[in-house]
Amino acid sequence: MKPGFKLAKDIYWVGKIDEREVPFHRLLLTKGTTYNSYLLKTGKPTVIDTVDMEFGREFAEQLSELIDPLDIQYIVINHTEPDHSGGLAALAGKATNATIVCTEIAVPEIQQMYKLQHRNYLVVKDGDQLDIGGKTLLFKETPYLHTEETMITYCIEDKILFPCDIFSTHIAVEKLFADEAGFDITEDFKGYYQAIIHPHRRYVRTLMEAIKDLEIDMIAPSHGFAIRQDIPKFINLYAELSSETTVGKKVSIVYTTIKNSTKKMAHILQDSFLENNIEVELWDADKSDEADILKSIAAADAVFIGSSTKYADMTGNLESILLKLKDLNLEGKLAAAFGSYGWSGEAIEVVQDYLNGTNMAVQSTSHVIKTTGMTHVEFPIRIRFSPKEKEKISKIKNAAEFVSDLLLSAI
Ligand code: FEO
Repeated sequence: MKPGFKLAKDIYWVGKIDEREVPFHRLLLTKGTTYNSYLLKTGKPTVIDTVDMEFGREFAEQLSELIDPLDIQYIVINHTEPDHSGGLAALAGKATNATIVCTEIAVPEIQQMYKLQHRNYLVVKDGDQLDIGGKTLLFKETPYLHTEETMITYCIEDKILFPCDIFSTHIAVEKLFADEAGFDITEDFKGYYQAIIHPHRRYVRTLMEAIKDLEIDMIAPSHGFAIRQDIPKFINLYAELSSETTVGKKVSIVYTTIKNSTKKMAHILQDSFLENNIEVELWDADKSDEADILKSIAAADAVFIGSSTKYADMTGNLESILLKLKDLNLEGKLAAAFGSYGWSGEAIEVVQDYLNGTNMAVQSTSHVIKTTGMTHVEFPIRIRFSPKEKEKISKIKNAAEFVSDLLLSAI
């Protein structure tokens, strides 16, 4: 397959096949991958997504053989990760008349990554349409699939969905269409979902809502195969794989508090878990029987332990409980530390240290970033003073939702 491969009337593949074993999101892509970019040679020629930054110059040169870059009117950037936006700097340097089309959140990212501060941008919102001269593009925002700025593009006349990472496969395909692959791509499709999309499965619901009324004759993603047969099967796989388990899950929340701020955090956590249909047992360690608390921890799927900080340490009876945890077999449980503080919040870190001394899977910001790329979820959950403000409440809820998703994962 070479740049210029025709998918539909006036729509061409202009991507790059990468046969290397590419390191990607802590995985080695043993089958390589492709970076699929698409040229829509309409009255207002448009490029949808680009290629990995390593191949940007080659991409821009090959595209120049198919169209005069000065004729390109729009460059749609569905997702700013550099394996798709990476060719933008080279392309924008040639396509000087082109307007960059993206979500609002993507603008500063593109400006800063590629020094494109002075270009024209068309910020699109969910449901916006763009006439590109003979074809119409419809944009749907799909935040966190898999990064915050992500959107998908749908060509109304051709009924083609350009979802970038979504519905992709990591294979260095020689034939673009899955039905010409010569093998069933389902396992590769599921493998991609699990590696890239599953950590963000909560947002697959947004995606399903976004595409439910679209007639889709072809899915043209930005890695691997384009799909034009059994489309409902592949869409339903995302719905099925992102669904929640019906098995009852339980969280034990244990805390000590000085002026009720850590208690309020515990209650916000409780409410969030209940909203996700997860059972909660809530314990004020200074007012409860220690044996009951330990029994609750032993029976829970996730354990949250919080303390206020006083004189740079934990308060109340918490240490007595934490000391006993290392002697329990808590394997398979998730754990997280939390607490309100006024100055430095040492107690929260001490709780975290105790949890790290158990065999539970203790959540940390570092682990969240490394495994999901999410930066809006932080562990331990540290709140200065009372959790009154919206941002503080969101921080607590984000952590609870993250753990809920781990507990409720069907796969
Ligand atoms: Fe294929 Fe999120 O990049």
